Amino acid sequence: MRGKFITLEGIDGAGKSTHHGWLVEALRARGKTVVATREPGGTPLGEKLRELLLTEPMHLETEALLMFAARREHIHKVILPALMRGDWVVCDRFSDATFAYQGGGRGLALGKLEILETWVQEGLQPDLTLLFDVPIGVARGRLDAAGNAPDRFEREKAEFFQRVRQAYLDRAVREPQRISLIDATLPLAEISKLLGDIVSSIC
Ligand code: TYD
Repeated sequence: MRGKFITLEGIDGAGKSTHHGWLVEALRARGKTVVATREPGGTPLGEKLRELLLTEPMHLETEALLMFAARREHIHKVILPALMRGDWVVCDRFSDATFAYQGGGRGLALGKLEILETWVQEGLQPDLTLLFDVPIGVARGRLDAAGNAPDRFEREKAEFFQRVRQAYLDRAVREPQRISLIDATLPLAEISKLLGDIVSSIC
């Protein structure tokens, strides 16, 4: 039986990386074999593209094309083989991020992104997407408190993240069966409980 494909999304500073780790462990505790991965990245080539994407200035269409190039490699080498083995795949970001960041944030035409999505994903969509939502100010505060050097995206202005957040929320409204909206301002323990309930409902 094909495994399930779960993705985590949200603006930078929403805390999704913490929840990614928690979710992977919760699924493993229930006996699932889980492949934990991320985008951009997840393969040796994808990680090299990630490095470029996070550091190198580039045209916004180049950025979108590289995101999808890394995704093609990831789907072909990691995601589909895992799902076919019956493993579960938990991925930190997937194409909702491209629609939110390159579409909403940078203003790239959705039609162009949809062409790439059809080409690269050949119908593959997550079974479940957890969207961690926080106001921009909260996210910025968390990034500042973490104290890591900001990457090319994290250096963007508040208005950029406002558009990214809105694009994510619009997608959640359009696809409520797939996208579960989570209030990421809640205390960690409450979010873990919510995730636990979601895990119980799908395992
Ligand atoms: P992120 O998961 O935030 O990495 P980290 O937690 O290590 O900072 O992802 C890196 C950045 O890539 C993030 O700012 C969003 C951006 N991104 C896009 O702009 N488009 C995409 O399609 C993906 C997958 C990520």
